[in-house]
Amino acid sequence: MINPYYKSQDKIFYLLKGDTMNLLPSFDHKFDMVFADPPYFLSNNGLSIQNGEIVSVNKGDWDKSEGFEFVNDFNRKWLSLVRDKMKDDATIWISGTIHNIFSVGQILTELGFKILNVITWEKTNPPPNFSCRFFTHSTEQIIWARKYEKTPHYYNYELMKQLNEDKQMKDVWKLPAIAPWEKACGKHPTQKPLSVLTRLILASTKPEAWILDPFTGGSTTGIAANLANRRFLGIDKEEDFLNISKKRKLEIENKATAEQFRNKISGFIDKKQFSLFLEDEKPNNEIKVALGFCRPKEVKSLRNNKTFYFHAIKDDNNVKDFPSGIYAAKKLIIYSCENDEPVSLTGHFAEIESIQLKHKSKIKGKENSKIEFYYEIKLEDCFEESEDLKFSLNQKKLFDKSDDKNIQLFQQFLPSLTTWDKLIKSLDKADAIAS
Ligand SMILES: C[S@@+](CC[C@H](N)C(=O)[O-])C[C@H]1O[C@@H](n2cnc3c(N)ncnc32)[C@H](O)[C@@H]1O
Repeated sequence: MINPYYKSQDKIFYLLKGDTMNLLPSFDHKFDMVFADPPYFLSNNGLSIQNGEIVSVNKGDWDKSEGFEFVNDFNRKWLSLVRDKMKDDATIWISGTIHNIFSVGQILTELGFKILNVITWEKTNPPPNFSCRFFTHSTEQIIWARKYEKTPHYYNYELMKQLNEDKQMKDVWKLPAIAPWEKACGKHPTQKPLSVLTRLILASTKPEAWILDPFTGGSTTGIAANLANRRFLGIDKEEDFLNISKKRKLEIENKATAEQFRNKISGFIDKKQFSLFLEDEKPNNEIKVALGFCRPKEVKSLRNNKTFYFHAIKDDNNVKDFPSGIYAAKKLIIYSCENDEPVSLTGHFAEIESIQLKHKSKIKGKENSKIEFYYEIKLEDCFEESEDLKFSLNQKKLFDKSDDKNIQLFQQFLPSLTTWDKLIKSLDKADAIAS
């Protein structure tokens, strides 16, 4: 496990320091949404105007281009790594300009993402064009894509319509460039405004969602995420930028400041709309439960570990995808009996830290197993058996009739997902567990 550069006290804001290409493969967490503002590769010694003065467009060494193939390779690498960190129903937003956006779009398609929209952010106050030989650059593009062609994503259609005076929200967003109050903790050369990040977070995530920014800079994504009651992990290799991020997080730990910021963020019809929306937004109270099966002897040997292995097979040895949403499961229940009679509950509840599909050759002790693939489940707490929790299940009550996918998975002895309410209803000894 890697040590975060910074972890906020409320545990909803994490920063990692280092090269995103090395750090992303080193942890297992899966995210609901990703925002990435990768280097635009425009630091080519050009000039621009800022506050009436001619300034260099160079942002830093991290933003220098070494040619077309270099940009493509860079985008291919980070996008593949980030894709592995996305839940099946997660979406990704990538901002860019003409310097990199075509490369990003092409590689998203190459890697199997489905592009949902290309948002044009029209800046209401762009810097003037210095050369007077072409149009003033006043837009940035933000591509929105989901991980798979067919797995549905989340979109808060109603809220977006509300923000656009009850008309469908369009893919052109007119929002001002960054305001001075957003830079009180120090300046990042390409800091994004909170208004843009807030809109895209509210459009594509539910409360408490986990959001990743692999090029976090001054962590506008994290600040917008926390102001909207979402959780955040950001990565950057520059310590100075991480320090700005940390200061910004500390700044909004003051409740009055956080509320002032919510009132100041552009893009809402009136200044209280953001806070009122958050009050209305109901946290998802459904507790998700992952159900799985393993052999009695494995339960025995694993009871002191934080790791379980669920068989990932079906009859013909084809591996199935884990049910979408299972990463958000808060409880884990393990059976170790025969397929049609999962009578004995041998597991315990625990927060799931990570779930990964692994080949047996990668798992110590399972190299000679007849089963090829396993789901490795890591828990935050240790496994314990609990006598009180022994019960038998009425499988028919466990899933809605319409929940074909999980019924099938359950019958095929694969991990499946249900909710705590349904589990309680399905128990023969419900009283014992409810108390
Ligand atoms: C365009 S800026 C992001 C700005 C950010 N959206 C904000 O609002 O502050 C890109 C950031 O990526 C960082 N960066 C570039 N290459 C990186 C890499 N390979 N690993 C980690 N960080 C990187 C840079 O240090 C820079 O802060």
